Amino acid sequence: MDDMKEEIANIKEQSVKEISNAKNLKELNDLRVKYLGKKGELTAILRGMGGLSPEERPVVGSLVNSVREEIENLIQEKEKEFKNQELLDRLKNETIDVTEPSKKVVLGSLHPITKIIEEVEEIFLGMGYKIADGPEVEKATYNFDKLNTPPDHPARDIQDTFYITDDIILRSQTSSVQARVMENQKPPIKIICPGAVYRSDSVDATHSPVFHQIEGLVVDKHISMADLKGTLEMFAKKCLGENTKIRFRPHHFPFTEPSAEADVSCFVCGGKGCRVCKGEGWIELLGCGEVHPNVLRNCGIDPDVYSGFAFGFGVERIAMAKYGIEDMRLLFENDIRFLKQF
Ligand code: DAH
Repeated sequence: MDDMKEEIANIKEQSVKEISNAKNLKELNDLRVKYLGKKGELTAILRGMGGLSPEERPVVGSLVNSVREEIENLIQEKEKEFKNQELLDRLKNETIDVTEPSKKVVLGSLHPITKIIEEVEEIFLGMGYKIADGPEVEKATYNFDKLNTPPDHPARDIQDTFYITDDIILRSQTSSVQARVMENQKPPIKIICPGAVYRSDSVDATHSPVFHQIEGLVVDKHISMADLKGTLEMFAKKCLGENTKIRFRPHHFPFTEPSAEADVSCFVCGGKGCRVCKGEGWIELLGCGEVHPNVLRNCGIDPDVYSGFAFGFGVERIAMAKYGIEDMRLLFENDIRFLKQF
């Protein structure tokens, strides 16, 4: 038994030395296996207890256990040391220099369509208008019927419009919002509505199946063509320059009576004739007119009490004229080289 005690003492002494010399977690683990593992040195002693007397066995057994515990504690302490050191090393290696200048954030620019819309909104907000909104996937009744455009009207042709069902379409004009606003609001009404519209057109330099319009609607007592003309003149001067003149040409829209198309004097040449106005001196700007009594009636407004004017224009057309863009496709291709010029 004394041999065994001595051996245990040796194992302990040896292990203390080795553990304190261990250089890393791997070495520590190897030591754990060497001393405490199933085939380890302490286990070997337990196995060798067969030759001891029944009185001696518990003595040796408890000695082995207390040494096992001591070794385990030493290993754990050492393990903690390594882990702490590892953390300190990482903290040291991974320090961030917060004073280092960061990468420059590349700022984009507003899309020319967005710029025009914001500019127009600004002008009309200044004249006391509110901004209205409506769905792009729209009921045909708001896009057509309520706007005095009955089912057999050519504007409803499948070639003009994208139909989702017979009753639901991608709106072909922001005029649909007129009906929605009039249904929900009592006069006085003064709104503009910018948004995307869809038509079944092939893509070329001046056409796109999706483009943008801005609609305007005013309904109150005694709203006349003179109010319309004054408003559009004011808008044209603010948007396109103080010297801009405006002219009306008779036209037809189902939802206005009388209807007109409005041109502005070319803001590039001032009316002399140039490339932008194609030698005309005038640029076609928008459609407009006095709201048709049927439209007011369809939307629950008494045309004997109230009247109104409405107008609608294409945003792309203004952007192209204003920025000298010759091909509409550029506005939809999202080429950064093009977009960053604005
Ligand atoms: N919605 C018409 C179009 O897309 C434009 C228009 C004309 C709007 C006359 C109006 C209007 O509000 O009164 O061609």
